[in-house]
Amino acid sequence: MTSVRLHPSGHSVEVPQGATVLEALEKSGFALPNNCRAGACGECKVKVLEGEFDQGFVLDMALSEEERAQGFGLMCMAKPVSPELVIEWGTVDAKPKLFPPREGQPFVVTDRIDRTPRITELRLRPQRDAMRYWPGQYVMLGDPAAGVPLRSYSIANAPRSDGEVVLQITRQSDGLTSNWVHDTLLPGSKVKINGPYGTFIGDPSVETPVLCLAAGSGLAPILALTEAALRRTYGEAVTLLFSAATQDDLYDAGMMAWWSARHRNFRYRPTLTRGTPKDPKGLQGRIPTLLPTLFRDLSQHSVFVAGTPQFVADCVAAAKALGARSELVHTEGYYPQSPPLTPTADQLVSCGTSPPAAR
Ligand code: FES
Repeated sequence: MTSVRLHPSGHSVEVPQGATVLEALEKSGFALPNNCRAGACGECKVKVLEGEFDQGFVLDMALSEEERAQGFGLMCMAKPVSPELVIEWGTVDAKPKLFPPREGQPFVVTDRIDRTPRITELRLRPQRDAMRYWPGQYVMLGDPAAGVPLRSYSIANAPRSDGEVVLQITRQSDGLTSNWVHDTLLPGSKVKINGPYGTFIGDPSVETPVLCLAAGSGLAPILALTEAALRRTYGEAVTLLFSAATQDDLYDAGMMAWWSARHRNFRYRPTLTRGTPKDPKGLQGRIPTLLPTLFRDLSQHSVFVAGTPQFVADCVAAAKALGARSELVHTEGYYPQSPPLTPTADQLVSCGTSPPAAR
């Protein structure tokens, strides 16, 4: 048995015979961003500080000679051949490091789907390099040169091999940017985005049941986090409570049904704050009020909450009243006009000399 030690936290992960470093990390909850799992995209690149590993066959565009010489490797294909590998992963407290945000990244709107009367979904693909991000992070979108201010929108999908980014944008009656999106952006439109930003990414090393609470377009980052957790075959229960005003405001029912059918540990419970649900077993009422009727004890849960600041505050209070621990509660309150949170140098990953390969 070999092991991988994470620097600088010192956490150690055992690597079973024949397993890749990525598989071993995922099994222990230390998820690495990844896409192709075949040495082709460069998403799982990390720096190896000590030890030897068999890199297997990977494409030069995903890992250049220069990066190999600097000690970088692709963990989806890497298998340790020395008793211990030491890799750069995360911060001192074993939280993941962030990818450096970039401004003015060109994307094309490849599709647009009106999810509800007020929420439209944009599917954007990068013209050049894919943007590296953690599920739960957000981007800034707008067109300042045309008088449309930049506003923050959470990414609603986990990273994909084609670099597609999904944004779900609520029309605000007095919102210049959201009205610009709804009234002018169509498939084929070109936009520029800045990002990624934010730290609503939780702690991947924690293996606990997960409770996600979302209201309105707060569902977006929750979708990305849930997709990522289910993709890495997260074993604990994942429950998603989604609050919408009326039946018409519920969306993504198809994806929820698919996740429920495919993952026995996933449970989706929508609730309406106005009107009667179509499903006779459907919930009614605000999530903070419903929580004590659905859970007796949240002391062992990781809790993720996204929505308006008031929704977030009320949910956190309700979860804590049921024993939720502060260190396991992660929140994203929407202040659409706030400036992006730019990470400090020690929060950023080292990415090698070349950007991730274009996909
Ligand atoms: S996930 Fe490792 S190179 Fe794509």
